[in-house]
Amino acid sequence: MSETAKFELDGQVYEFPVIEGTENEKAIDISSLRGKSGYITLDPGFKNTGSCQSAITFLDGEKGILRYRGYPIEQLAEKATFIEVSYLLIYGHLPSTKQLNDFRISITRHTLVHEDMKQFFEAYPAKAHPMGVLASMVCSLSTFYPESLDPNRSDEDKDITIHRLLAKLPTLAAWSYKNSVRHPFMYPKNKLDYCSNFLHMMFAMPTEDYLADPIISKALNTLLILHADHEQNCSTATTRVVGSSRVNLYASIAAGITALWGPLHGGANQSVIEMLEQIQNDGGDVDKWILKAKDKNDSFRLMGFGHRVYKNFDPRATIIKKECDAILDKLGIDDPMLDIAKKLEKVALEDDYFKSRNLYPNVDFYSGIIYKALKIPTEMFTVMFVLGRLPGWIAQWKEMIEGGEPIGRPRQVYTGENERDYVPIEKR
Ligand code: ACO
Repeated sequence: MSETAKFELDGQVYEFPVIEGTENEKAIDISSLRGKSGYITLDPGFKNTGSCQSAITFLDGEKGILRYRGYPIEQLAEKATFIEVSYLLIYGHLPSTKQLNDFRISITRHTLVHEDMKQFFEAYPAKAHPMGVLASMVCSLSTFYPESLDPNRSDEDKDITIHRLLAKLPTLAAWSYKNSVRHPFMYPKNKLDYCSNFLHMMFAMPTEDYLADPIISKALNTLLILHADHEQNCSTATTRVVGSSRVNLYASIAAGITALWGPLHGGANQSVIEMLEQIQNDGGDVDKWILKAKDKNDSFRLMGFGHRVYKNFDPRATIIKKECDAILDKLGIDDPMLDIAKKLEKVALEDDYFKSRNLYPNVDFYSGIIYKALKIPTEMFTVMFVLGRLPGWIAQWKEMIEGGEPIGRPRQVYTGENERDYVPIEKR
């Protein structure tokens, strides 16, 4: 494409190439702007800045489209397994039967974590948030696998590191919960599928077996697929930027985990349930809380509402809402929180404040209600998000490393003091 963008500054015209993606998304490549003109661009929160070109996930926030490697999220959520979707995201194509089997076997063989890591868990206070524990544990994996330290060592080493991480994350996640309730750790059972194995490590006890209800495993499979990737969100961008320093995969993913933890990002799923509980305990007056969310002098926000990119609807939220009704129905659960959530959604969607700002329920508005129905403790909700998002982070990290992307290093506009002389303390 020969299209260029012209930009006039101080009477001089500069030309920049226009880049077009496969879905006709257009961008102006301003990477030479500073060299040519001395100017940089300023875009706090990167609301209008593309940080990379990527072939992994396409989303159109206006039309509510989300596709992994071209496949619509609706089809993947209904028909695929999480392991298959992980393969798709990481390797770029749907696996053949043999590829899927080999992938599954490799992941199954790496589910144990080094026994010494158990001592790390035991050193944390019981009240430690499992996200803090999980991020540290994932980073600690790098200390056990020195061959992972150079991300470019060989494709084989890279693959083993990726498989190890996918295999060990459910073990570490479940153990961070077991540790918080000071229950004995349950070892993985390799005959179980990915989701059932995680549920076994969460809920089995040495005294009592736990065989996951297939309804619950299936629901978890769907939730993990819906969370598996979401292009350049806060945690994914973090993973790519941290990885761009050529630190190892474990450290890059640990950074992604901590970015996800915040309540404006993945931590919203925990905040939504806490908010619904608060509204319920306060008598369930939805209008009162809507007013609070609209009041600029009140720090309260409607958690699980709004999205940086989706401005009409979040397709994941549409699927999750349906799943939520179906799962509660199948499990015979009547949760008053679901009624409050639906009322909040209805009132907000008819309210000018939310309408004019294009604020709609996001993926996290209903996911917490499903996790609650699956008996996942509230503090583990964001850990569940980590389980889902892992293959996306890995795929994005791999794309960045293999594409030889430069180190991420934004610029700034300095607004501090001009040069001044140091004043000795006795003269201040
Ligand atoms: N409740 C009330 N008002 C809101 C909300 C909300 N949940 N979200 C946005 N607004 C308002 C803002 O106050 C702002 O109003 P103004 O124009 O009058 O100042 C306007 O809508 C735009 O909001 P911004 O915060 O500027 O939008 P941004 O794109 O920066 O933030 C975000 C998006 C962080 C998701 C925001 O909507 C939010 O805080 N939502 C609640 C937290 C949440 O659910 N996060 C999960 C997102 S999904 C995910 O990460 C997996």
